[in-house]
Amino acid sequence: MSFRVLVTVPLPTKARSLLERSGAEIVYPSRFHALGDENSAAFVLEAGLKTEEALAILKREKPVDAIFTTLICKINKEILDTAGPQLKVVSTVSVGYDHISLDECWTRGILVGHTPGVLSDSTADMAITLCLAAGRRIPEARQAVLDGSWGDWRPLWMCGMDLHHATVGIVGLGRIGQIVAKRLKAFDCNLIYSDVIRNEAAEKEFGLHYVDFDDLLQRADFVLPHIPLLPETRKLFNLKTFKKMKKSAIFVNTSRGPVCDMDDLYTALKTGEIAAAGLDVTDPEPLPPSHPLLTLPNCLIVPHVASASIRTRLDMFDLAVRNTIAAINGKPLPSEVKP
Ligand code: DGY
Repeated sequence: MSFRVLVTVPLPTKARSLLERSGAEIVYPSRFHALGDENSAAFVLEAGLKTEEALAILKREKPVDAIFTTLICKINKEILDTAGPQLKVVSTVSVGYDHISLDECWTRGILVGHTPGVLSDSTADMAITLCLAAGRRIPEARQAVLDGSWGDWRPLWMCGMDLHHATVGIVGLGRIGQIVAKRLKAFDCNLIYSDVIRNEAAEKEFGLHYVDFDDLLQRADFVLPHIPLLPETRKLFNLKTFKKMKKSAIFVNTSRGPVCDMDDLYTALKTGEIAAAGLDVTDPEPLPPSHPLLTLPNCLIVPHVASASIRTRLDMFDLAVRNTIAAINGKPLPSEVKP
């Protein structure tokens, strides 16, 4: 079946040919054509369209049957109205969908596809990386090598927190939270978690203990949110919650930046309410280089790259394409965000 799809991000070769073979006419800004394929630096550096640019293209190119997008393009009422009434699906190359106005989609009967599962392992790997790097003070240690303050071996210099045998608190035991637990079992950690519902099968499999949120904050050496951004999780981590944590606690966030109040995190790290943080996500993104958090040696920040392995990103594209094609053909989506 032939259909028109607005694609807001340059497509890797396989994803593009899969779409084209299924009958898609790809609506793309002309600058994407000049980028080459995924092996070129220009392609890798291109972020894709934000809402305003996507809207401008839609106004020229409407109607479209599908929108294929990423988390930097907000899919709001205006975009949906402009795309036209035949729009069947919004497919995002991300597990998170807080950039999509779900109610606006669902009241119009538009399906929403996303990419859970294929990125869980890579994201869990990054959560462990940040626990180890923030706990063992890797950025500070590297800086000491660079600036010549290394000096003679000193018994108590650059000592940090062990991850092995630590009590780790996982807030939200979804797909990623469970893989983090699986990894940490091998580190002999004492694993506690909080969630809106208990998962007794996972408790058995990974040796997890269910606790309430406050209990988790008080007991954990490492606190790891693996939760979606929802009205009730926005700024869940704030000065009040940081004050409940141990002074030696390490906060590691690979979920969504706005689940944490950045100003409060700065205060908590600066005043020693908690010991360190490792963040893959911030609020806003990108975090401006002048942000006060970047002046703190005990705050390690990487630029939202938890799922950034080549295999994972290509798998995400593949799943997002399959979601699009299924919706167009009236078939169940491999991964639908359900009302
Ligand atoms: C997602 O998929 O939502 C991540 O934040 C980026 O991989």
